[in-house]
Amino acid sequence: MKLSGVLAKLGMAASMARALDIQVDNKDSIKEAAGTVAFGLMSYYSGNETGDVPGNLPAPYYWWVCGGMMGHLIDYWHYTGDESYNDAVKQALVHQAGEDEDYMPANQTRQLGNDDQGYWAMTAMTAAERVFPDPPDDQPQWLALVQAVFNEFVGRWDEEHCGGGMRWQIFSFNIGWRYKNSVSNGCFFNIAARLARYTGNDSYVEWADTVWDWESKLGLIDEAKGIVKDGVTIHDDKPCRDDMDTNEWSYNSGTFLLGCAALFDFTEDGKWKKRADSLLDHGLKKFTEGQVVYEQYCEKHNICDDDQRTFKGYYLRTLSTSAQLIPEYKDKVKPVLAKSAEAAAKSCSGPGGEPEPNHPAFSGHPDTSCGFSWLGGKNDGTSGVPQQMNALAALTYVLDAKPPVSKDTGGTSKGDPNAGTTDEEKTRSFEPITTGDRVGAGFLTTLVLAGVIGGCSFLIM
Ligand SMILES: *[C@@H]1O[C@H](CO)[C@@H](O)[C@H](O)[C@H]1NC(C)=O
Ligand SMILES: *[C@@H]1O[C@H](CO)[C@@H](O)[C@H](O)[C@H]1NC(C)=O
Ligand SMILES: *[C@@H]1O[C@H](CO)[C@@H](O)[C@H](O)[C@H]1NC(C)=O
Repeated sequence: MKLSGVLAKLGMAASMARALDIQVDNKDSIKEAAGTVAFGLMSYYSGNETGDVPGNLPAPYYWWVCGGMMGHLIDYWHYTGDESYNDAVKQALVHQAGEDEDYMPANQTRQLGNDDQGYWAMTAMTAAERVFPDPPDDQPQWLALVQAVFNEFVGRWDEEHCGGGMRWQIFSFNIGWRYKNSVSNGCFFNIAARLARYTGNDSYVEWADTVWDWESKLGLIDEAKGIVKDGVTIHDDKPCRDDMDTNEWSYNSGTFLLGCAALFDFTEDGKWKKRADSLLDHGLKKFTEGQVVYEQYCEKHNICDDDQRTFKGYYLRTLSTSAQLIPEYKDKVKPVLAKSAEAAAKSCSGPGGEPEPNHPAFSGHPDTSCGFSWLGGKNDGTSGVPQQMNALAALTYVLDAKPPVSKDTGGTSKGDPNAGTTDEEKTRSFEPITTGDRVGAGFLTTLVLAGVIGGCSFLIM
C-alpha cells in the first residue's frame, strides 16, 4: 500500500475519535492528525475540479491565501511523505503563474498587491527548496518564477517617496497605492535572501541589504528591539515616518526572520545573526502565550479578519525553517512548536456546524473542524480555511525535516535570472485609470481607515 493510502486509512480512524489525539514525540500520532486536518482543509478546495479554476479558493477567501495554503501543503508532503495533494498543488502553482509566468494573472489585477504576488513567490521558493516535483520543461519552473517576481520587485523600488521601498499596491487604481508596508517589502527581502542562498548569486544579497536598511532607517524595523511595524503612508506635506501604522503582525516578524536566517546561513555575516536573534526573541515574547502562538493584535478580541487569521500559520513555518538554518534556535523554538501543536490539535474537535455568514461550510471528517484561537485549549466555535491551514501548519512543523536545499545540495529547479517583465510593459496592457476609479479608490480608502480607527477604539474599550 502506498504511504498516502495508509495515511488516508489512519485519517479515517482518527475521525472516529472526537478530538485529535497527539503526543508530540510520537510521529505517527502527529502524521495521522495532520492527515485528518489536511483532508478537512482540502475539502474546502474545489480548484482541481472540472470547470473550476486551479489556485482559487471559494469566496470570501482571497487569492493570496490560496498561495499561502499551497506553501503549507508543500511542507505537509515534505514532512509527512503523504503525496495525496501534490497533483492539486502543482496544478495550482503552475496555473496561477499566469500569462507571463510571474504570479500576476490578469484575473487578479483588480486586487493584486506586491504582497499577494509575493506570497505565491515565497511558496514557489519553498517548492524549489523542498525539491517539490518539478513541472514538465514546457511549463513554468519554481526557481524561474521566483526570479521573475524578484526582478519585477526591483523595477518597483521607488526612491521618490519615503527614501525607498515598494508600495503596497502595484497599480495606482488600487486601494493602498499610497501605502508602503512591511509585508510587501518583507516578501522582497525574503525572496532575495532565499534566492541568494539557493543560487549562490551575491546580487540578491545586495537587494536584501537595501530592503533591510530602508526598513530600519525609516523606523519600520527597530533592529535593537526586534520589532517590525506595519507600514507608512505617503503624504505630500509631511514625511512618511510621521504617519506610521505601528501594529505588529506575526507574519511580518516571521518573513524577516526567515530572510535573516537564510542570509546568515549563506553569508556567515554576523550582522544577520544578530538581527535574526533580535527578531526571534521579541517575536517569541510578543506572539505567544504559554508558548502557544497567537495573533496578539486581534485574536483575543475576536476581530481578526480572514487574512489576519492566516498569519500565525506562516509564522510557525518561518520559526521552524529558521531553526533548521540556525540550529541553536531549536532550544527556543521547539517548545513553542510543541505547545502550539498540542493546542491546535485540541481545537480540531468542532462539528463545523453553522459557518460564518457568506463562508463555506466544513465538510471534512465529522468533529475534526479546527478553531482559530488555541489559547482556550478547546474548539472556539469558528471554522474555515484559515483555521484548517494554521492547524495543519502546527502539526506539520512539530515534525523534523532537514534544512531547505540549495542548487548545490540537491536542488533541481531550473532558474532564469532574467525572468519577468518590466513594469512598463506590464502596466501598458491594462486600461488607463479613469477619474471614477480614482475617486472610488479614495472613497474606499476612507472607509477602510474608518474601519481601522473603529477597530482601534474597540480595542481601547
Ligand atoms: C481533487 O483533489 C482531491 C484531493 O484533494 C481528490 O480527491 C480529487 O479526486 C481531485 N479531483 C480531480 C478532478 O482530480
Ligand atoms: C481567469 O478566469 C477565467 C474565467 O473564470 C478562467 O478560465 C481562467 O482559468 C482564469 N485564469 C487564471 C490564471 O486564474
Ligand atoms: C545574478 O543575479 C543578478 C540579479 O538578478 C543577475 O543580473 C545576474 O545575471 C545573476 N548572475 C548569474 C551568474 O546568474
